[in-house]
Amino acid sequence: MSKRVLLIIGGGIAAYKSLELIRRLRERDVAVRVVMTDAAQRFITPLAAGAIAGERVFTDLFDQTQEFDVGHIRLARECDLIIVAPATADFMAKAANGLANDLASAVLLATNKPVLMAPAMNPHMWANPATQRNLAALAADGLRFVGPNIGEMAESGERGLGRMAEPEEIRDAALTLLSDGPLKGKRALVTAGPTIEAIDPVRFLSNRSSGKQGYAIAAALAELGAEVTLVSGPTNLPAPAGVKRVDIESAREMMDASEAALPLDIAVMVAAVADWRPSKEARRKIKKDAVGVPAIALQENPDILATLSKPGKKRPRLVIGFAAETDNVEENARAKIAKKGCDWIVANDVSGDVMGGAENTVMLITKDKSEAWPRMAKQAVARRLAAEIASALAAKAPRK
Ligand code: C5P
Repeated sequence: MSKRVLLIIGGGIAAYKSLELIRRLRERDVAVRVVMTDAAQRFITPLAAGAIAGERVFTDLFDQTQEFDVGHIRLARECDLIIVAPATADFMAKAANGLANDLASAVLLATNKPVLMAPAMNPHMWANPATQRNLAALAADGLRFVGPNIGEMAESGERGLGRMAEPEEIRDAALTLLSDGPLKGKRALVTAGPTIEAIDPVRFLSNRSSGKQGYAIAAALAELGAEVTLVSGPTNLPAPAGVKRVDIESAREMMDASEAALPLDIAVMVAAVADWRPSKEARRKIKKDAVGVPAIALQENPDILATLSKPGKKRPRLVIGFAAETDNVEENARAKIAKKGCDWIVANDVSGDVMGGAENTVMLITKDKSEAWPRMAKQAVARRLAAEIASALAAKAPRK
């Protein structure tokens, strides 16, 4: 059966490109139903959009005939994906705040379908902290974005970030979201970031993990259709679209949140879990003058990777650990597979600036192979790992 898109056209000069988008989607056998805002109708007419879509266009929240015929709830539900193109600064602000005072915003508030926004606005409007706040809020709500791109603005001739993505780009992003994905129906856990271990209410032990690699892996698994829980220590990163993030601080909280995510098909433990925690957490701030230099006794933290790898009914089908190595990478990684009981190890070469950096050099070590991957962006490592995971699960017999 062909897929169905509801296209919300917002009011901007880029609206003319949405006519092209309708054509590009229909070429790929995607049915397009169109909603236009009042402002959009200043730029293009419902007649033009309707002619290309091959369906009448919806414009009015309070139109008796339209509402009786196909109300905004039905519009919101009778599709596989909603695209907003162009998504203006105003429309993003309304959506971020849950306003519903016209048909387009009411549809967006009522939907339970994935939403893809293609923002288009003046570069100053895009860069404005208010727009960036709204973008972060919408992304945290699970909305997806394509663009904006850098380019010349139609109205002012200014160059900058704010030009709507091209119709082909929007179509491709939509087709990815419409495709079921090889990990559809699979449950995945990713741990990421550092843990922090309290000494007293204000002081803690921690490490320099940025969480970038783990967040990228969570995003890549979600892109392939997995239902992803990201258990994260404190980072500065926004939750990837479509991923459920659970915030924790200590290793013990990470363990509890990870076990709460069971049953799982996939577990990827990327977090830099603190090896030790202070044996005693002081309930009150330790006074500098009272104790002199305190001796802080440490004890070992639970090993989340080893715990999840234990054989048993609840064991995820594929458990993957990370290992920070500087030498004898393969040998050490194989020893770690044996020690932890996991299936694969991704060994990072941490001799450079991997911690906090944008790139990573890794080696994938499984029972059957060792592959040294070239240095690449953490997102690229994530996508390649997600693809390996998808093919491994496809090859394995389904669990009885
Ligand atoms: O033993 P080591 O810290 O080198 O192991 C690293 C791997 O084990 C990583 O995948 C890390 O997320 C995981 N780990 C864990 N719980 C710990 C320590 C490490 O899940 N307490």
